[in-house]
Amino acid sequence: MFDFDQIIERKSDKCRKWDHDFVCSRFGDVPEDFIPLWIADMDFTSPPAVIEGFQRIVAHGTFGYTWCFEDFYAAVVGFQQQRHQVSVDPSWITLTYGTVSTLHYTVQAFCQPGDWVMMNTPVYDPFAMAAERQGVRVLANPLRAENNRYQLDFTLMEEQLRTHRPKLYFFCSPHNPSGRIWRAEEIRQVSELCQRYGVILMIDEVHAEHILEGTFVSSLASGCAAHDNLILLTSPNKAFNLGGLKTSYSIIPDARLRQRFRQQLEKNSITSPNIFGVWGIILAYQQGLPWLDALNQYLRGNALWLTDAISTHFPQWQMMNPESSYLAWVDVSRDPRSATELTQHFARQAGVVIEDGSHYVQNGENYLRINFGTQRVWLEQAIQRMVKHY
Ligand SMILES: Cc1ncc(COP(=O)(O)O)c(C=O)c1O
Repeated sequence: MFDFDQIIERKSDKCRKWDHDFVCSRFGDVPEDFIPLWIADMDFTSPPAVIEGFQRIVAHGTFGYTWCFEDFYAAVVGFQQQRHQVSVDPSWITLTYGTVSTLHYTVQAFCQPGDWVMMNTPVYDPFAMAAERQGVRVLANPLRAENNRYQLDFTLMEEQLRTHRPKLYFFCSPHNPSGRIWRAEEIRQVSELCQRYGVILMIDEVHAEHILEGTFVSSLASGCAAHDNLILLTSPNKAFNLGGLKTSYSIIPDARLRQRFRQQLEKNSITSPNIFGVWGIILAYQQGLPWLDALNQYLRGNALWLTDAISTHFPQWQMMNPESSYLAWVDVSRDPRSATELTQHFARQAGVVIEDGSHYVQNGENYLRINFGTQRVWLEQAIQRMVKHY
């Protein structure tokens, strides 16, 4: 029904991932026929229902100011209920202009320069940018890789919370870069520690829709995270490839917390949505689920294929099992070359553009990140080229 093997020509659409000049500005002299497996952007068109909905808006031809009308709240409530079995009160929802900018506003709303924001590293780099750009310090709680799977260090976490008293805890669930899905018990423990030490818990659930193995547990699930200090940030952008629309939303059950958060948005006039952004959420959430299920099946196949290819051709590398998302996180610490040397070599010699983990917030230096959200044939060709030029 949905053909994820179909190659989509993307060199002309000015996406960062496929633009030769842009890629050369980041990775040096990369051959023209490069295969990009870097930035977290998939090579699939969005669900047909989303595209058709946008086409109707375009055909109508007026793009005036809009507002968060009822259908937006209904779409979020319905999606969260159907997909994650949680009941969201519409009053908890606030539309925002992308999760990354919202991380920044969240720091502005709740921190003063010199405060700490805690996070488990390695983690998505904008977590640290959002803090540091406001003069707020990053308190890193390193994840421990045990049997090639990340674990939280609760003892150290409590010690850090007690001694540094951070204002915010940024928790990535599921985790980017590893795809690790946190169990209810783990989320609950993080939440309880935050409550004990008076810390606001921001949980980023942007990667919750691509579940390849296991079960995702929403922070809103009953008995999981406490509601009085929780800020949930998410968007359909990863799931449905809508990142360029720069629209997202927050769910904040506690009225006082929500009010402070909204005041910060209002100070910056984050009030009415982009017309495609708000419709993108409605269309994807209300009509995109069959497509999402089919996509997840395709991504599962890609993950298995890549795991097998890496263990066959690069036995000294170790790929973590991606329980979610479409990013492979590969430990190359036993390779004689560093991750940075490997990525430069593959980009320039093989024309395969992957990233090393050094841009993540700490502890990612020995890892490669490979984006497998693409047609299988690109993965096959990329691995062939990497093997040839290794
Ligand atoms: C953990 C995480 N949060 C947020 C984002 C970006 O979300 P948005 O498109 O809603 O800004 C990404 C994108 O890669 C991500 O990995």
